[in-house]
Amino acid sequence: MLNKVSLTGIKPTGKPHLGNLLGMIAPALELQKDYSCIYFIADLHSLNGEKNPSVIRESTYDCVATWKALGLDTDQHIMFRQSDVPFVTEYTWYLTNVTGFGFLEKAHAFKDAVAKGKDINLGLFLYPVLMAADILMYDADVVPVGKDQKQHVEMARNMAGSFNSIYGEEIIKLPTPLIREDGDLITGTDGQKMSKSYGNIIEIFAPEKALKESVMKITTDSTPLEDPKSMAETPLGQLYRLFGSKDAYADLESRLQKGGLGWGHAKLELFELINQKLAEPRKIYNELRADEATLKQLLSTGAEKATARAKPILQRVRAALEFN
Ligand code: TRP
Repeated sequence: MLNKVSLTGIKPTGKPHLGNLLGMIAPALELQKDYSCIYFIADLHSLNGEKNPSVIRESTYDCVATWKALGLDTDQHIMFRQSDVPFVTEYTWYLTNVTGFGFLEKAHAFKDAVAKGKDINLGLFLYPVLMAADILMYDADVVPVGKDQKQHVEMARNMAGSFNSIYGEEIIKLPTPLIREDGDLITGTDGQKMSKSYGNIIEIFAPEKALKESVMKITTDSTPLEDPKSMAETPLGQLYRLFGSKDAYADLESRLQKGGLGWGHAKLELFELINQKLAEPRKIYNELRADEATLKQLLSTGAEKATARAKPILQRVRAALEFN
């Protein structure tokens, strides 16, 4: 029996890409060995930016099928959809009342939106409070997130602390962020950080042909085929290192350094490597993604388990407020 809980949320925004896989999904799946995992699709958080409900629904199914295909064991762990456990909005309300306006104004995401002159709704402003409710409602021990989310987890600790100082110590359990320092640094096909908004992603489960096209798009310099070259500091090298063994990496690198091997060839080898790793999970993904009845069933079982876990914890909070 695994006693410690690992919890994280996945915002459903489009099809997951290799940056998500290497930076977030793979490390979170790794934690299945040592933690009882609660992973959920944060569709309530997506409402803030995405106004087309079908996009959120489709992306939710894409994400669930992706995590399952990559090895999430839903018998042992919990995968659910945030909106299926509406307790979280109640908990959000309790937390908003112990959270200062000025404190929320310091959130990076909010400050960025202000700096860019964006049209800001309250959903964006309260984003960290909803996220804190997500985390605190399940007594999470660790929250595996990328560096960009670290502040949010710290804010959740802070809100828990404020609540406890008013209503009683140890009512809310404080989580620890588990930050992957290198998690955000997966480079896209154009050399910038891999991100849907830059149009430089490589989808995890794109059909083989599309995967090949994306890999062949990776930018390289114009060193001629016959000249010696190195993939050490390149996006190609980064992906090769992450997908291949140390030996495979060293072998390709030494052939590149000898000269006579062009970037195109190296990219083809990278494609073969990625394709070989993803072919089997891709089959599982495609079957599952085509079967929405099974995905719905999975989510509804997840919601039941999550509700059962949240209920007594929320009860503790309600009792502290003398709402029981
Ligand atoms: N804000 C996270 C993101 O954009 C998603 C998220 C929502 C989350 N709730 C969470 C992550 C709770 C960790 C814990 O990626």
